[in-house]
Amino acid sequence: MLAACAVTPPPGGPVPLPAPLVIGHRGAPGHLPEHTLASYRLAIELGADCVEPDLVATRDGALIARHEPNLSETTDVAVRPEFRDRYRAAHAIDGASQAGWFASDFTLAEIRTLRARQALPELRFTGADGRLGIPTLEEVIDLVRTTSAAAGRALCLYPELKHPAYHRALGLPLEEAVVEVLARGGFDGPEAPVFLQSFERSSLERLDRLTGLRLVQLVGSDEASGAFASAAGLDAVAGYADGIGVWKLHLLRPGPDGSVRSTGLIEAAHARGLLVHAWTFRSEPRWLPPGLGAADELRLFFEAGVDGVFADFPGEAHAARTQFLLGRPAAP
Ligand code: G3P
Ligand code: CA
Repeated sequence: MLAACAVTPPPGGPVPLPAPLVIGHRGAPGHLPEHTLASYRLAIELGADCVEPDLVATRDGALIARHEPNLSETTDVAVRPEFRDRYRAAHAIDGASQAGWFASDFTLAEIRTLRARQALPELRFTGADGRLGIPTLEEVIDLVRTTSAAAGRALCLYPELKHPAYHRALGLPLEEAVVEVLARGGFDGPEAPVFLQSFERSSLERLDRLTGLRLVQLVGSDEASGAFASAAGLDAVAGYADGIGVWKLHLLRPGPDGSVRSTGLIEAAHARGLLVHAWTFRSEPRWLPPGLGAADELRLFFEAGVDGVFADFPGEAHAARTQFLLGRPAAP
């Protein structure tokens, strides 16, 4: 349960968040299973300013931190005999059929019995598999609040509403729930250290009517999402959101020879008053541009003017930001 608490700004007002932001993408999944309290806590210890819970709903309407409604790949549900009968051979999510176990078929009490697993076991540490539970949004809020108070650091929450139209069709609308849970935790209004994000424009427009919290339109790699990056798309986004969260190759295009070409999207978004947060920065070579290390890639994006980065290894992003800030001319 969410501890009864109201946000009490320190004397002199809220502590500002650093810039550019380091966002612990799903926590610190390069080290610990994604979307667990231990992963979020480690992200903060490694220097993340924000943690990013992706949110899906349980059958009884609780918001839990998972990247997918399908629990098969990131929990131990498939080896739990008591849940064998919950398996669905075909379940439609946004027009695509999936097999597996789905959060909306489980109560929160049942979800609490599951244990998280590393999403990329072939690449990353699996030693914590089976030991970490699935947190609710309330528990993530509590973690951020208590850690921020204890460390005297400004920290933020960056929840993503996953598949809002799918959830609404199930009778489990996310928008009202997330706004209510955040308000109960004392997070309300544009000054609150919160960014709400979604790929779905209609969900953000609904949120814009429900809350003053800052909103971020996600812009994915697919053609339909790419339309948000056009001039007309950005004009529209500026009408209901405060920023864009962008697939990084929409911003900078590294070439095979080490050259980098800017698409101009950062400047176009800034010209409309929109923040630009880029995703996803991962340190394993398979995701890095040819000839670049993780720190090199991050530096390129900081130098290009992004306002934040979603990083699977927040410690590396924090270090790269420090180097970037040190290398900038001192303010007069
Ligand atoms: O939310 C930004 C980024 O996380 C979007 O991608 O699939 O990791 O949620 P995904
Ligand atoms: Ca996300």
